[in-house]
Amino acid sequence: MWSEATIRSQAEPARRPGTGLFVSYALAIESSCDDTAVAVAGPNGVVAERRRSQAALHAPHGGVVPELASRDHARVLLPLVETLLDETSIAPSEIDLVAYTRGPGLVGALLTAAALAHGLAHGWSKPILGVHHIEGHLVSAFLDDLPELPDRFPFLALIVSGGHSLIVHAHGLGRYEILGATRDDAAGEAFDKVAQLLGLGYPGGPAIARLAERGRPDEVVLPRPLLRSGGYALSFSGLKTAVRRRLEERVTDLDPADLARGFEEAVVDVLVTKTRRAWRARRLARVALVGGVSANRRLRERLQQEATADGVELRVPPLSLSTDNASMIAAVAWLRSAEASPALESPRPWALARWSLAELRPPLERRLVHAV
Ligand code: KG4
Ligand code: ZN
Repeated sequence: MWSEATIRSQAEPARRPGTGLFVSYALAIESSCDDTAVAVAGPNGVVAERRRSQAALHAPHGGVVPELASRDHARVLLPLVETLLDETSIAPSEIDLVAYTRGPGLVGALLTAAALAHGLAHGWSKPILGVHHIEGHLVSAFLDDLPELPDRFPFLALIVSGGHSLIVHAHGLGRYEILGATRDDAAGEAFDKVAQLLGLGYPGGPAIARLAERGRPDEVVLPRPLLRSGGYALSFSGLKTAVRRRLEERVTDLDPADLARGFEEAVVDVLVTKTRRAWRARRLARVALVGGVSANRRLRERLQQEATADGVELRVPPLSLSTDNASMIAAVAWLRSAEASPALESPRPWALARWSLAELRPPLERRLVHAV
């Protein structure tokens, strides 16, 4: 998990291109699901992050309980901000922008960050910006050289998390063409549900991956949903049903590790096949694998093999930034800082449970540059 230590870079504040304004730090708050996180980004990228996982809180319930999530976020968010600022010795006066995850996610959980961010922005007289969670995941693969991000486009993105499974042609910042999405469960959701069937608890992805390490290859072969049909569309609920059927057959010598391995292989096979098909069809030379399921070792390995074979560059976030975090939200905030508004004028609603990546637009600065 995220190290409790905080780091501070020696980055000098930079002039925001075209505006004459100095941008030093953006503070970001993330609470869209079951991770509570705060981070600060500067001109050279992310400076520091503090994060708390709610996994232990939800584990007894086998999944995220929205009401518990909201209450816990509300309890720990402000102390996390205070600790982060204390440890980095960043004063509120040095922060130019307060950002938060506006959506998509659990609406009650999102509102806790939204309320705190608006309160801080109003109290400190700073502008505020609501960030798209999935755009955060998208940039998470580029945090090591954030200022270079505009030059990394176009690329293909496979976004696989607990709530989303998307194959996206990223033409530029804020210009996302969704090629395919899941028709039912997200990939991470399938891992979580299958883990529940196997009695592995929550969160399921890491538990399945660990069990699958001991499983024999090809001992259990499960269906590959929509592998040869549906374009880039994905589907995982039938696979979960196939796992349940195997368990109901009560074959006495069925090893759960073989079943976990068979399930993981099926998910990885579909994701890798469709993603490769997309980068070939779109003639893209770079692919980003992001979202919580990008922590899956087998998926990383298989995608890397195919990318290398095709001469495609694979970008993956470090493991600590695969799952939800505030560093990625702070990074987007910094890139989109020109769009921030005064707290009292910020767009409503403050939180959006559903919000398509396709609705985003390029950052304001770019549009202004184009208009001139
Ligand atoms: O991005 P994320 O932290 O939250 C959402 O935005 O949904 O993703 C969480 C998901 C969970 O479903 C979890 O089971 C899955 O990522 N996950 C994994 C692994 N680590 C986390 N799935 C497969 N293998 C893993 N190693
Ligand atoms: Zn996420």
